[in-house]
Amino acid sequence: MSFPIHRPRRLRLNSVIRNMVRETVLTPNDFIYPMFVTFGKGVRKKISSMPGCAQVSVDEAVKDAHRAWKLGIPAIILFGIPEHKDEKGTEAYNAKGIVQKAIKAIKDKVPGLVVITDVCMCEYMSHGHCGVIKEGKIMNDPTLELLAKEALSHVKAGADMVAPSDMMDGRIMVIRDILDLNGYEDIPVMSYAAKYSSAFYSPFREAAESTPAFGDRRSYQMDPANRREAMKEVALDIEEGADIVMVKPALSYMDIISDVKDSFDVPVAAYNVSGEYAMVKAAAKLGWIDEMKVVMEIMTSLKRAGADIILTYHALDAAKELNK
Ligand code: PBG
Repeated sequence: MSFPIHRPRRLRLNSVIRNMVRETVLTPNDFIYPMFVTFGKGVRKKISSMPGCAQVSVDEAVKDAHRAWKLGIPAIILFGIPEHKDEKGTEAYNAKGIVQKAIKAIKDKVPGLVVITDVCMCEYMSHGHCGVIKEGKIMNDPTLELLAKEALSHVKAGADMVAPSDMMDGRIMVIRDILDLNGYEDIPVMSYAAKYSSAFYSPFREAAESTPAFGDRRSYQMDPANRREAMKEVALDIEEGADIVMVKPALSYMDIISDVKDSFDVPVAAYNVSGEYAMVKAAAKLGWIDEMKVVMEIMTSLKRAGADIILTYHALDAAKELNK
């Protein structure tokens, strides 16, 4: 017998009242902007499956970083496209590697911006897998050593935070260890804790030139069918020292975002991945949706589901819209 006493529409009567009772409010401060850095100068190579995104050389990356900072975005995450790839992913931990150069240049010109780095081997390995390969198998423990070296070299170059995305077991522990041993106990680790083996990553693989030469990533990334297993992965990473935990992808995994938020007391990040971005862009290009309204709805929903931080290629556009 709630009606006519209860009329939820009373609180939707006009925009002032709607604003008063809104539960989730977005700000540019919620975003991390992902960037792809490549060698060369003055390079801005468009990524066809991610309209609006590009591989940029270090000088151009500095401009984009500055743009993000001016819009009120607190952080970027860097992915590197090295000039040479090999079986050991040497460029990943080269002090003069592409990401290391970009960190230095960006921190030099935009010191306040939080520079996060993606720590993974796939962009640096000739075979495109996230770890060392032996007889066709992706080896866990030998990969840990490389990841630790890579993380340390990013931090030595000036990174403010590292984000391991490889899904090897034990990587948070070895990274925490090596950073502490070298006096970087104050550098936080944001782990890609519940990272699923997803078809939504395919545009990224064009962007980062990291498509596996054989097989797929199902022996290390999670099975999309599993929900409880995400709790195990997140718990392990927190135990090993993760400061922030990420769920990835975001849209098809909002149940996971919500579970993680309910069960753990650390900040939760959600990665609105390349395929999610590409779908919005494609539909908008065809005139089938209103891009900005859809973007805002997606971002709000992710925050409502429990994300404290959203990694998204829409960050610049969304921040512009929010600053209007
Ligand atoms: C590296 C990495 C990937 C993404 C982020 N870090 C690709 C993958 O795991 O294959 C995907 C990001 C996106 O799709 O936007 N391991």
